This record gives sequence, C-alpha cells and structure tokens, in this order.
Amino acid sequence: MSKVKTKVVPFPVPVCIASSIVKGKANFATYGCFGLLAPRPTTYVYIGSVDPHYTNIGIKENGYFGVNIPSVDQMKETDYVGLISGSNTDKSTVFKTFCGKVDKAPLIEDCPVNMLCKLTKTVDLPGRDIFIGEVIETYVNEECITNGKLDFYKINPLLFTSANASYWELGDKVGLAYKEGKYLKQ
Ligand SMILES: Cc1cc2nc3c(=O)[nH]c(=O)nc-3n(C[C@H](O)[C@H](O)[C@H](O)COP(=O)(O)O)c2cc1C
Repeated sequence: MSKVKTKVVPFPVPVCIASSIVKGKANFATYGCFGLLAPRPTTYVYIGSVDPHYTNIGIKENGYFGVNIPSVDQMKETDYVGLISGSNTDKSTVFKTFCGKVDKAPLIEDCPVNMLCKLTKTVDLPGRDIFIGEVIETYVNEECITNGKLDFYKINPLLFTSANASYWELGDKVGLAYKEGKYLKQ
C-alpha cells in the first residue's frame, strides 16, 4: 500500500455550538475542536483566544458554558454563528434558549442535545484556550429517543471536515462496538 503525507487531519467530527453569557446577553459560536473525556462526564472546547473571540469572555466570567450539538437542520445558523463574532454583532437572538439548573449559560432549544458544563480548568496556551468543563446536565429532545435509547439517526448531528470546509451527515451503522472484534479473537 502506498501512502502520501498530509498536513491536515481529514476525518469528520460533529460540531458543537458553545453558548455563554457575555455582558448579560447570550452568545453562540461554532467549534469543531471539542470532545468528551471519560469516565466522569467532561467536555473540552479548544478556542482561539486572540481577538475577537467573544465566547471566551463569557466562559471565564461565569464559570459555566453550554455545549449544544446541532442537527443538520441547524446548518445555516451553525455556520452563521461561526462566521461572525459577538464582539461586533449581537448573536443573542439567533437561537431560542432555555435554562438548565444553573442560570449561567443559555442552552439552545433547537439543538437536539445540550450539555450544561461547569468550568473546571482553563489551559492557557499561546493564542488558544482549552476550556475543560464537568457536564452537570445533559438534555436530549424527547423525539430523538427510540425505545429508551438515543437515536442518532433522529439526532442527525451536523458533521464537519476542516480539510475541505464541508458539512456532512451520518451514514449507515456498520457494526456493533466491542462485538465485531471478538470474531478475530479465537
Ligand atoms: C464549522 C466551524 C468550526 C469552527 N471551529 C472552531 C474551533 O474549533 N476553534 C476556534 O477557535 N474557532 C472555530 N471556529 C470559528 C469560531 O466559531 C468563530 O471565530 C466565531 O466567530 C467566534 O465567535 P465569538 O467571537 O462570538 O466567540 C469554527 C467556525 C466554523 C464555521
């Protein structure tokens, strides 16, 4: 097999919309560099800290942030809040929000999955902040649950590839984790 070297990591990731309160108003911004850490439910969001990243101000001021997972239906709004900064445009009315048990980060009604996160650590890197938060609450739209389980087809998360600046949706399930490998074990 021949391989070529590449500088970018081209695999698709779900995007999130981080939500925070800045100067008394909701602000939203899109992030591809985010993820979950186990076992204690923890999230991280990797955010540029050089002007004009407005989200960082709200997360630092309130100690809480929302991680909202948009579906393909929210593609245009998701792209929009990732194109402009709250520092020069009021994005507070782009989404309808609700509040979890702590009123320090708005959560987006239209997004099928919402996590309310308490900031536990900020890693201050040159030109970047990594915000690490404990997930205090997770909400899922009722219609995205089938037989008591999360239904990822119904959530239909918006996927992103930075290599060609494109959005995608989930394809078909191809197997069962922790089971498929067993056939190679004998
Ligand atoms: C699809 C997409 C993914 C993005 N991912 C990131 C990211 O991982 N980290 C980052 O710092 N900015 C990322 N951005 C850019 C921010 O969303 C953008 O700078 C935004 O305007 C910041 O808004 P704010 O200044 O109101 O916080 C992304 C934008 C888009 C559209």
